[in-house]
Amino acid sequence: MTAQPKPITTTPDISGGPRHVAIIMDGNGRWATQRGRPRLFGHHAGARRVRDILESCPAAGVKYLTIFAFSTENWKRTQSEVAGLMKLFRKYILTEADALKNNGVRVRFIGDRVRLDPKLVEMMDALEARTIENDSVNLTIAINYGGRDEVARATKRLARDVADGRLNVDEIDEETLPRYLDTWVLPDPDLVIRTSGEARISNFLLWQSAYSEYEFVNTLWPDFTAEEFHQLCAAYAKRDRRFGGVKG
Ligand code: IPE
Ligand code: IPE
Ligand code: MG
Repeated sequence: MTAQPKPITTTPDISGGPRHVAIIMDGNGRWATQRGRPRLFGHHAGARRVRDILESCPAAGVKYLTIFAFSTENWKRTQSEVAGLMKLFRKYILTEADALKNNGVRVRFIGDRVRLDPKLVEMMDALEARTIENDSVNLTIAINYGGRDEVARATKRLARDVADGRLNVDEIDEETLPRYLDTWVLPDPDLVIRTSGEARISNFLLWQSAYSEYEFVNTLWPDFTAEEFHQLCAAYAKRDRRFGGVKG
């Protein structure tokens, strides 16, 4: 099932493009409904889009790709949709692991693992360990991830460090707090893309996206192509990010 590794070029053909792109992959359900098919059909089609986008990262100069696969709110869906998604995550890891490893992709997972099936968590841990030496593209998959939940979990760990005397209250600032987030090793996203026409962030990377640029596109995730991804990265390169200052 796994494809032959493709040579990865590291020379970006977009100058000034985003180094870290985060994607809210939305619209799988509507895509399936439009075709008279069950929602899970859309999720499977959506999962198949990831490889293409990932493979187009080096040409776009993207070193970090973070994708929102399942939110802390998605447990509200029917038991069969949730179970189908969890099964799909296991299938994705099984079928893609070799290609990810051979293509130099370093995989990380963010989100709270406590509520996930231990078998899935084991597979996630194994894939992280297996790709630890890779560094062509950093793929981060958010499963049972919520920005508020992440901040709450981080705060709990931080409070414990204070209580145990490992951290002084006066040391808590904008530099120390993010070290407790799931994303502590990642740079902040430069560009956040949401597909399917919804213009909201749905609890994704709340802290990290404080100064990210946003693109809300109408394309449903299963129809999202590497070409559109490339266009959005090129459009980002033309934006003027001021971070609160004045253009020099
Ligand atoms: C996004 O697609 C995937 C997940 C949230 C798991 P949706 O399932 O939200 O698709 P729509 O928004 O219902 O079309
Ligand atoms: C956000 O999409 C979560 C993921 C893409 C995994 P949702 O479809 O769950 O978000 P809402 O419900 O439209 O805000
Ligand atoms: Mg949705």
